[in-house]
Amino acid sequence: MESIEHIKESAEYLGKRLNIKPEIAIVLGSGLGVMAEEIEDAVEINYADIPNFPVSTVEGHAGKLVAGKLRGKPVLAMKGRFHYYEGYSMDQVVFPIRVMKMLGIKNLIVTNAAGGINKEFSPGDLMLIKDHIKFFSESPLRGKNIDAFGPRFNDMSNAYTLSLRELAKEIAYGLGLTIREGVYGFMPGPSYETPAEIRMLQILGADAVGMSTVPEVIVAAHAGMKVLGISCITNMAAGILDKPLCHEEVVETAERAREKFITLVKAIIEKLK
Ligand code: HPA
Repeated sequence: MESIEHIKESAEYLGKRLNIKPEIAIVLGSGLGVMAEEIEDAVEINYADIPNFPVSTVEGHAGKLVAGKLRGKPVLAMKGRFHYYEGYSMDQVVFPIRVMKMLGIKNLIVTNAAGGINKEFSPGDLMLIKDHIKFFSESPLRGKNIDAFGPRFNDMSNAYTLSLRELAKEIAYGLGLTIREGVYGFMPGPSYETPAEIRMLQILGADAVGMSTVPEVIVAAHAGMKVLGISCITNMAAGILDKPLCHEEVVETAERAREKFITLVKAIIEKLK
């Protein structure tokens, strides 16, 4: 368990380096990293320079925080996140979210690439996460509770904040973008799932599947942050179509959908209170 002192130390370091007080944080998933380039008056801080921060290893994940203004709002973007499959502990995966909470951030936007399970979805679709299913791997809250963040047994019934989902839907509608809504099933990876696992998730009510986001959201919900989760459906999950999965397809679709994804996220940030 990371101690609260470690979290405080990182937050204090960041507080000194930042020229703004961010109110919104955004975790940029696969393909969305370029959004950080649109942040004005940007201060970039490499993860490697932040005391106690884990360091990102995965290809295509740069590993830095970018803080500044986006549509006039003070934001903090995570370019590159920590995945459980990379070998980090759950504590390490969620460490940045706890530091964000300590910095006073109230709204968290988490983005990711996901496989589509719902057959009405197509690659390139965007999906608002309304709930999740996680039963593999331990909870990031396992171990001694940090009472300063939230209670031992925290409520998860509105983890994906309803008002933010409604705002996102309204904005998507205004922009003429189709947006799906569904349940995200967390799988630990790094293998893509088997067709049998996808059938299982489908029966259990998952609309999409991915290897990130859920640990971060659990910790954010525990700490009382408002959360908006958006998935880009980059491929149909294993066995949904009669073809194998490949990482290249995931990357290509994420790139294809990037512009509308960024347009949507920026418009949401502009309207966030
Ligand atoms: N499964 C798990 N994670 C993913 C997928 C998938 O099909 N696509 C993108 N991330």
